[in-house]
Amino acid sequence: MDVLLVGLPGSGKSAIGRRLAARHDAPFIDLDEVVEAAAGRRIAEIFSDEGEVGFRSRERAAVAGPGAATEGTTIERVIASGGGAVVDPRNRWLLYRGRTVIWLDGAPEALAQRLRHSPNPRPLVAGPDPIGAIRGLASARERFYAAGYRVNGLAPVASVVDAIETIVSVPPASGTRLFDAHTAIGRIVFGEGIGPEVLVEQLGRMGAQRALVVSEPGAWGFVGPAITAALDAAGLPLELGLFPEGEAAKRLSLIEHAASALAELRVERGEPLVAIGGGALGDSAGFLAATYLRGIPIVHVPTTLVAQLDSSIGGKTAVDLPEGKNLVGAFHQPAAVIVDVAYLRTLPDRQRRAALGEAVKMAALGDERLFSVLEDAGRRIAGGDDAAFADGSAAEVVERAAWAKVETVLADERELGGGVRATGTAAAGRLALNLGHSIGHAIEAAGGYETLLHGEAVAYGLRGACRIGVEVGATPAARAARIEDLLDGLGLGIGRLALSPDVVRRHLGADKKHAEGRLRWVLPTVDGVIVRSDVPESVVDAVVAGLLEPAAEGSPLR
Ligand SMILES: NC(=O)c1ccc[n+]([C@@H]2O[C@H](COP(=O)([O-])OP(=O)(O)OC[C@H]3O[C@@H](n4cnc5c(N)ncnc54)[C@H](O)[C@@H]3O)[C@@H](O)[C@H]2O)c1
Repeated sequence: MDVLLVGLPGSGKSAIGRRLAARHDAPFIDLDEVVEAAAGRRIAEIFSDEGEVGFRSRERAAVAGPGAATEGTTIERVIASGGGAVVDPRNRWLLYRGRTVIWLDGAPEALAQRLRHSPNPRPLVAGPDPIGAIRGLASARERFYAAGYRVNGLAPVASVVDAIETIVSVPPASGTRLFDAHTAIGRIVFGEGIGPEVLVEQLGRMGAQRALVVSEPGAWGFVGPAITAALDAAGLPLELGLFPEGEAAKRLSLIEHAASALAELRVERGEPLVAIGGGALGDSAGFLAATYLRGIPIVHVPTTLVAQLDSSIGGKTAVDLPEGKNLVGAFHQPAAVIVDVAYLRTLPDRQRRAALGEAVKMAALGDERLFSVLEDAGRRIAGGDDAAFADGSAAEVVERAAWAKVETVLADERELGGGVRATGTAAAGRLALNLGHSIGHAIEAAGGYETLLHGEAVAYGLRGACRIGVEVGATPAARAARIEDLLDGLGLGIGRLALSPDVVRRHLGADKKHAEGRLRWVLPTVDGVIVRSDVPESVVDAVVAGLLEPAAEGSPLR
């Protein structure tokens, strides 16, 4: 087995790593030293010569060096990661898989004190306020470190090594946790093969005496057996309710029925409900949790790509009415969201491909790296290519898109941002997430929600937003072309739709995103979005017409 040590500068990775390796007669690999040896310079010099960007690229090469993790129950290698290496999702994928990750934790004040006496200056904390700098690094990195086992790195070296030995003496978890974030909108745990184990752990943390699970047959058939076995092993009785598959789960009558079942089970206020499934199941079970006893905690285990990168995050819950989708709902933040990227392997290709429409939107909001991963691997992810799951591309797409949603929601939990002229993704607040959705929703509604999946409609909406943006001077032509080229590559939004422009226009008029009576358009800019409410109707009409099949004389589409 490999032990990987992570933690902030000054947390003792080198000293503890060396001692642990010596005790086990195992090699010690300090990735910072590997970088220095390859460059023939100290890290501080690399920073000053090449900047952080240069250092990070050298670090990426060093991270790949150790290759695959060693197996077995004895410590074969001890590896110390540079403190910031694990921020990069691909580095974490390479470093964490198959390894026992130990987080050497320590209070920022104590770490600053240690670093003051260190012969080895750390560039990122070398300024006039080292404690503030360490606090900044801690808040940016803690979720990555917290995926490992936490040990107090400030204790005497021998006792830290003892603590690590106790941890490795227990059989390791089977999956890989890639981050574990405690946020104002719930705990969010992300990884591969982690679903059953983290669910049991989360229910334990919440003091649950049983697992009240709501799922649906399409998801439960794949993920249910392993979850049932884990609950069984933990001695947690399972109470399972299955909703119908897909949008049929979002019916008010079903909520009444399910609430009665909870009442029969004498479910109390603090007892958590667990929602296991796609976006439809999560919306419906979320609404049940939001309203039963005026709110009980909910843990989401999203099993589709839409649910993992979008619907399980943000606390929006809803059911449909015959008059329209999502008309009855509530905001209800989950206690936890457990995202297991392995669940996506069994999804039908069309579901994965469509959901990538949302990922393209997240990239367009300003994540250049997400753009390039989608350009490189998006098609393979959509097709369920094993290599795209094995090399970390799929995990990186989910992590980046999901975390972008977390940050947007945290900044604007109840959609209060996005004034009529908000410039930049941050200023647009949660409204930024509406990029591509005005036309997307109108197209979905015009098609009676039957022809296109949501992400497929969003892809058309993104094309529409790009074209409107270019027309009104908000979107540089090159940016619009990059977004549309990516959609082409993914096979999204291809071909014109056989819908009536009048019907699409009518649904656009019903869009909820109005201010002062005018539709607020979220349009791409060179590196984010702008909100504009001065888009002439003639421009919208022309762009919408370009997405639809030209109607023949006498056709019902006219
Ligand atoms: N609350 C929000 O913020 C929000 C955001 C976006 C979408 N939504 C809602 O999400 C819903 C769409 O969600 P969706 O796209 O996940 O569709 P879905 O929930 O209908 O699931 C799609 C299909 O995938 C199957 N499935 C689920 N997990 C599977 C797995 N691991 N392997 C194989 N098959 C699996 C399901 O049985 C279903 O047939 C819509 O109702 C939409 O309104 C909500």
